[in-house]
Amino acid sequence: MPKKLFFNWKMNPTSSFQATNLFEEVIKSSKSLSVHVVVCPPFVYLPLVCEMSKKTNIKIGSQDISTQDSGSLTSEISGPMLVDLGCQYSIIGHSETREINHLTNQDVNKKIRHCLQSKLTPIFCIGYQEDKTTTDINHTELSEQIQQGLQDIRLEDDQIIYLAYEPVWAIGTGKTADNSIIVEVTKFILQELKMLGLNSKTKILYGGSVDDQSVVELMKIEEIDGFLIGGASLKPEKFSRIIGIVSSN
Ligand code: 13P
Repeated sequence: MPKKLFFNWKMNPTSSFQATNLFEEVIKSSKSLSVHVVVCPPFVYLPLVCEMSKKTNIKIGSQDISTQDSGSLTSEISGPMLVDLGCQYSIIGHSETREINHLTNQDVNKKIRHCLQSKLTPIFCIGYQEDKTTTDINHTELSEQIQQGLQDIRLEDDQIIYLAYEPVWAIGTGKTADNSIIVEVTKFILQELKMLGLNSKTKILYGGSVDDQSVVELMKIEEIDGFLIGGASLKPEKFSRIIGIVSSN
């Protein structure tokens, strides 16, 4: 199966004009290639990119989601609002969002439930600071994030979860985790998912400094289904090469 690509624009770009140009480049780079691309822009550009995506194969996701359909939750954006725009995915529990909003694993769990109830596919992020070699993988922390984040989650037949493993030290640093760590952690994640009965319905992604260079080595990891990409998703020359590499494998 070709690896899937998820582009997290984070808090970029800073105008509708730039967002339009950037999305046009994604359309151009992926046109007529068999590649699964999901773009997750800031909330304010969702109407724009959802509209632009209509005649393409590119799917759209949000970078966060609330826990309720509607109500007195100033600043929050709910699942029905995202579905109404045409979104199909939502990033949940990104390490940056966890830190900025002081999210607990229980908060992440509520968001995943709401996401699934809204018929959106969650891109559930886990990861922490220390795991630079296979010997210092923090199994306890990973296990807590998975077990608490996915506690009592039940999936309908047509639902799946994407679980993105993003070591915090690798995000935006140009340093990618070694394949050996990613394989080791992926095996551990699958064991944890098995305890929850979710192993066959969860796809695993890697994120952290994936670019047009590092992707060549990372492509060799059979255990993962795709990549969650930040910085390189803002640079057309980089993401067009990534799309080319992924689609030709
Ligand atoms: P970078 O690709 O910039 O390291 O970001 C990874 C990430 O956080 C994607 O969600």
